[in-house]
Amino acid sequence: MKEGINLSLRLKEVREFYQTSHRALPWRETDDPYAIWISEIMLQQTRVEAVIGYYHRFLDALPDVWHLAEAEEETVLKLWEGLGYYSRARNLQRAAKIICEQYAGRMPQTYEELLKLPGIGEYTAGAIASIAFSESVPAVDGNVLRIISRLTGDDTPIDLPAQKKKITRMLLDAFPEEGGGETNQALMELGATVCLPVGRPKCELCPWQEVCVAKREELWQELPKKLPKKN
Ligand code: ADE
Ligand code: SF4
Repeated sequence: MKEGINLSLRLKEVREFYQTSHRALPWRETDDPYAIWISEIMLQQTRVEAVIGYYHRFLDALPDVWHLAEAEEETVLKLWEGLGYYSRARNLQRAAKIICEQYAGRMPQTYEELLKLPGIGEYTAGAIASIAFSESVPAVDGNVLRIISRLTGDDTPIDLPAQKKKITRMLLDAFPEEGGGETNQALMELGATVCLPVGRPKCELCPWQEVCVAKREELWQELPKKLPKKN
């Protein structure tokens, strides 16, 4: 990373941006870990706008982890119909059974424990642990890698595992002790609404416009860098 980028200050700025201008989304209005989990699984491979209706329907039909664990698989798959990637629905139910059998129906509360459940990878474990349980851990996906690469002007390919590790470590070190969930949601929001994956980023709306290397050096089209595609 270029020196002089005070990442914990940058995270504070992105939280302030989030507080003034985030989209109202249904999973942002709950503190129920079950509901937050369902939303994060749906959001893994499906766009926000497409998820909203499914999220409400799913929670109406299966309002808690016991209902999910005890439902017919067919019911769960039916609720998933149209979202695609059905392994997500099967893993969700497998995880629900584990939570009921091994955790007395209480969601595990830490990143490390969440990571052991079917269907929960590093990103989702970070999202749930921070949003539902206030753990101070980042949730790093392609959006976060893009915005941090642009902010810092780092042209190391983001698909190198070492680069993802490096950015995760930087974020972990800079994460606030409280407000980890809000910080992750804020980074997601910046990536979804301002520092867009396709097309010109809306730098004029960005809390980082004064400090961003990609903006200053007009590098947004070059960043994030990816490895050349293999044939
Ligand atoms: N994508 C993944 N998790 C999300 C969340 N909690 N809010 C908006 N988009 C997301
Ligand atoms: Fe992205 Fe522009 Fe913000 Fe830099 S200033 S992070 S390029 S939106």
